[in-house]
Amino acid sequence: MGIVSDLLVVDIGQLVTNDPARPGLLGVVEDAGVAIADGLVEWVGSDADVPDRYRDLPRLDAGGAAVLPGFVDPHTHLVFGGDRSEEFDRQLRGESYEQILEGGGGILSTVAATRAASEDQLFDEAAARVWRMMANGTTTVEIKSGYGLDTETEVRMLRVANRLDETLPVDVVPTFLGAHVVPCEARTDRDAYINLVCGPMLDACAPLARSCDVFCDEAAFSVAEARRVLVAARSRGLDVRIHADQLGRVGAAALAADIHAASADHLDHATNDDLVLMQSSGTAAVLLPAVSFSMRLPYPDGRAIWDSGVSVALATDCNPGTANVESMPFVIALAVLNMGLAADEAVWAATLGGARALGLDDRGHVVPGAIGDLVVLDAPTHLHISYRPAVDIVAAVVKRGEIL
Ligand code: NIG
Ligand code: FE
Repeated sequence: MGIVSDLLVVDIGQLVTNDPARPGLLGVVEDAGVAIADGLVEWVGSDADVPDRYRDLPRLDAGGAAVLPGFVDPHTHLVFGGDRSEEFDRQLRGESYEQILEGGGGILSTVAATRAASEDQLFDEAAARVWRMMANGTTTVEIKSGYGLDTETEVRMLRVANRLDETLPVDVVPTFLGAHVVPCEARTDRDAYINLVCGPMLDACAPLARSCDVFCDEAAFSVAEARRVLVAARSRGLDVRIHADQLGRVGAAALAADIHAASADHLDHATNDDLVLMQSSGTAAVLLPAVSFSMRLPYPDGRAIWDSGVSVALATDCNPGTANVESMPFVIALAVLNMGLAADEAVWAATLGGARALGLDDRGHVVPGAIGDLVVLDAPTHLHISYRPAVDIVAAVVKRGEIL
């Protein structure tokens, strides 16, 4: 994304800065103003004290509403072909996710549809999703490959992710997920597939990605297999992250800590011991309540995860199977209502927590020098996000100083 603008935002009733130098977890400033110059936050303070030099900037009047940093969604699979609404219906009638995957459906259905789709088709459908996400306040989004599972299609997916970054007013962090599951054609020789992922596929994909993820779980890759892929990815300069212990406890969260992964995501079956390891390795926990919601599964204990001291992030996990969800406000509401996070913790996790999980220190907060990404709510305080779930709560979105 290339826009860079100047903007003065005034009459902010409640500004969430996430600035640790200000009081409370969210560093709230009441009756605030923010000046953005060349796409970066330059000044934050009381509305009454806006310096004269900003008075001629283009102006956005927040009308007394709450303003937050733009949402950072650090875990999605939003580039995909086809749709799995029929499988969703089968799940509602009692079949499990694992049964459908073992029968060649699930992720593998989406692999077939994604392989069959052209780059333009994938782009157009993904762009529509990203525009809806932006309308819900997302200004930075991570996007994984993982529905190609052959070099050509994995590259195509990552090209689409990069093209979204270049052409839409959003920042995209592309992640290589060649080790999502073993594709049908490789089922008799897992090792050959892992060699492909660690070798030619990674060679082709690493230049298009910033990080590498592995689905390390019962129906996917073992800890030993995941370690091989992630070590290979890191040697090519990628950050590493793991879909960890979602379906069962296989030691994936502990692996994430052991290799100092940037994040371990899902964590439905991770234990307190795993969290202690993650805390000491600085591995962030990315929680995905929309998956529990859509799959009608128990929610991980967000309270215990937060209290363990790990850095917590919230993400949509937008994907055609387990959470076809695009709205970060809805995810915040789920985390507050079902996972035991307090409203301020959930807002932090959806902004600065997401930025931390992605290793981005230039966003997720409203402080001088940060990227000028803001969400103006149609509400006086951030509490309304979970108090009024599923309401269209975002009034305006600012990306690098530009009103979208
Ligand atoms: O995050 N767990 C693995 N990957 C995705 C689901 C992908 C799919 O079902 O298409 C997830 O839940
Ligand atoms: Fe996922």
